[in-house]
Amino acid sequence: MDHATTDQKIAQTEYDIMPQIAERWSPRTFSDRVIDQETVHRLFEAARWAASSRNYQPWRFIYGLKGTEAYDRILNSLVPFNRQWAESAPLLVMTIVKEQMDNGKDNYHALHDLGLAMGNFSVQAQDLGLALHHMAGFDWKGAHEAFDIPEGYHAVTVVAVGHYGGDPETLPEDLQKGETTPRQRKPIDEIVGEGTFPQ
Ligand SMILES: Cc1cc2nc3c(=O)[nH]c(=O)nc-3n(C[C@H](O)[C@H](O)[C@H](O)COP(=O)(O)O)c2cc1C
Repeated sequence: MDHATTDQKIAQTEYDIMPQIAERWSPRTFSDRVIDQETVHRLFEAARWAASSRNYQPWRFIYGLKGTEAYDRILNSLVPFNRQWAESAPLLVMTIVKEQMDNGKDNYHALHDLGLAMGNFSVQAQDLGLALHHMAGFDWKGAHEAFDIPEGYHAVTVVAVGHYGGDPETLPEDLQKGETTPRQRKPIDEIVGEGTFPQ
């Protein structure tokens, strides 16, 4: 499976990790290949088997495939910066959390659990040769109205999904460089401490 089409994007790791993690990256252009319903269901199947606090499964999703009204509504919720490139994605997913637990108290771990579900979605996508690009830049209030999202739920991100292999030259010039720039991360010591807060 052709996981990462751009060698510069493969993580330069200090330790050996799974290729599905090392080769994942977030493109802003996707190939012309469509995504079928079976594949959409496989992605959400992976997402729903994530762990969650008390098994509340606070994640909810709305998706649209290119060419549908749902897709256009999700696309239109994006800020202009994201809209300009995300429309090459064949699939757009809006992620949503249920904010309270069954007892009515705030579920402090809801966002954590949505993140776990999207982690599963991401690894499954990578295994299928699909790339994601998560976006915080969208009008969540407008999305709540456009999709009648009930009280007690909060739209968190929109995610562009498509096959790797888009042509960077189709992007505005200022975005082209990002398609080949090596990915950077903080060193392990800065984020992990053995028995102490990382120094
Ligand atoms: C929650 C979240 C929100 C993001 N929002 C945006 C966004 O609005 N627009 C954008 O172009 N990229 C967005 N990104 C992509 C990140 O900038 C990207 O994942 C990060 O730079 C690391 O690059 P990599 O995914 O290729 O490793 C977002 C990522 C996450 C996880």
